[in-house]
Amino acid sequence: MANQLIINSASAKATINRMIYGHFAEHLGRCIYDGFYVGENSSIPNIHGIRSDIVSALKKIKIPCLRWPGGCFADEYHWMDGIGPKEHRPAMVNTHWGGISENNHFGTHEFFELCELLGAEPYICGNVGSGTVREMSEWIEYMTSDAQSPMTTLRAQNGKKEPWRLKYFGIGNENWNCGGRMRAQYYVDEMMRYNLYARDYGNNKLYRIACGPRNENYKWTKELMEIGAPYIDAIALHYYTRVADPTRTTNLADGNEQYYMDPSISRGSATDFAEDEWFQIMKAALHLEHLIQKHTAIMDFYDPDKKVDLIIDEWGTWFDCEPGTNPGFLYQQNTLRDAISAGTSLNIFNNHADRIHMTNIAQTVNVLQAMILTDGAKMLLTPTYHIYDMYQVHQDAQLLDFALLCEDYTYNGQSIKQVNVSVSKNRDNQINITLVNIAPDQGAQITCHIPDLETLSVSNALVLTAPQMNARNTFEYPDTIYPQRFTGFKSAGQTLQIDMPSKSVVLLTVPC
Ligand code: AHR
Repeated sequence: MANQLIINSASAKATINRMIYGHFAEHLGRCIYDGFYVGENSSIPNIHGIRSDIVSALKKIKIPCLRWPGGCFADEYHWMDGIGPKEHRPAMVNTHWGGISENNHFGTHEFFELCELLGAEPYICGNVGSGTVREMSEWIEYMTSDAQSPMTTLRAQNGKKEPWRLKYFGIGNENWNCGGRMRAQYYVDEMMRYNLYARDYGNNKLYRIACGPRNENYKWTKELMEIGAPYIDAIALHYYTRVADPTRTTNLADGNEQYYMDPSISRGSATDFAEDEWFQIMKAALHLEHLIQKHTAIMDFYDPDKKVDLIIDEWGTWFDCEPGTNPGFLYQQNTLRDAISAGTSLNIFNNHADRIHMTNIAQTVNVLQAMILTDGAKMLLTPTYHIYDMYQVHQDAQLLDFALLCEDYTYNGQSIKQVNVSVSKNRDNQINITLVNIAPDQGAQITCHIPDLETLSVSNALVLTAPQMNARNTFEYPDTIYPQRFTGFKSAGQTLQIDMPSKSVVLLTVPC
């Protein structure tokens, strides 16, 4: 069967919210300290302790929002420890991630400054697991109130007279596990109580994000939507792309499991793998389509007008940490496999832009599927970073309808679709097509047809690929893999013949 892509250029289905290209930064391993934040006295160029090269790199991909301070860390974080003069801030033990001492030098003020430097919307996740209603309520008052109060006086004493503007606020993280091991019903009751006292001050209106399910926990989505929907703006699903593990048995309450917190279970190497683990990761990335369809079907039942958004505020690949690094730091390398998996996941998110408001890949620097890895003053951009660079064309563009007929990629008797795609039209009347060929050693010839256009021309074409499945950038060779000019297409009247290399992501821009 020939691969065919037919695009309806007049079919604006939804706006692809730029927040879909969001990120996540937790106090975990070397994400904040030795990552984003090196401190004012560092010899590495910085602005009030925030690394300048990281800021520039993330601005280039138009980072739209940043989630902080966790993750599991959020449900052990006590915000008052992270304000005021640094020398007076009490240290804590980061019990969840490596048991190391956290000096609280990066706190609320530093986070807002980072977001301002990046031009990104702050997204703060509150502590439901081990905090109090009062603590959360006062944090929001401290950040957003413009009234005279003990919290705003404290903020002014700490150098910030005017309130910040904060839109995105999460009522807990993974409350079915590290955020309190709650059953769905119990969480919904707690969420409504915390949410009630998370006030809107002055003109600041919070966008309230409830802790959603993990993976296939449809029961959680059902119970949350049934009772909680009128009180929230979004629910947040978590899904990590991992190799399959037959030993997944440890069940927690309500169908949740502790699988991915268990360090004794191997998740496979990030760099040393054969086609078997390549296939498993591609299959796991494509599984997102199924998950989103099922969770949104439940949401549609309780909320047919789509008032509550779906957010995926943790996703990405999760492998064994790099040999010789602290297992509690979740530091992993990033290869072409991660890029193909990210391209596939982002295509799926784009195609569900009618429900998906935001996603946050885990985690921006030095943790899991990172954009950036650092080693002292050195910094490298990962293949996943380059996907975000290529896909930024979709930010705030109109999602277009398409039909894709494509061949299967078969491995060991199992088949998955070889090609996936998303298509959008921007304000400059350009159609951007991002195609992913997931087969590791099979090219894909695609005939693309846009019936409403007289002629198809291409004004920009890029490809990300490499000869090896595990091609990656290293500190010694930081430019091994990056997007290159793509010439594998021919336009003939109303059709475009595209010749994709194996294991590649292609961006084509078609003026219309
Ligand atoms: O991203 C790492 C961890 O994965 C987060 O802290 C937690 O929310 C999830 O389980």
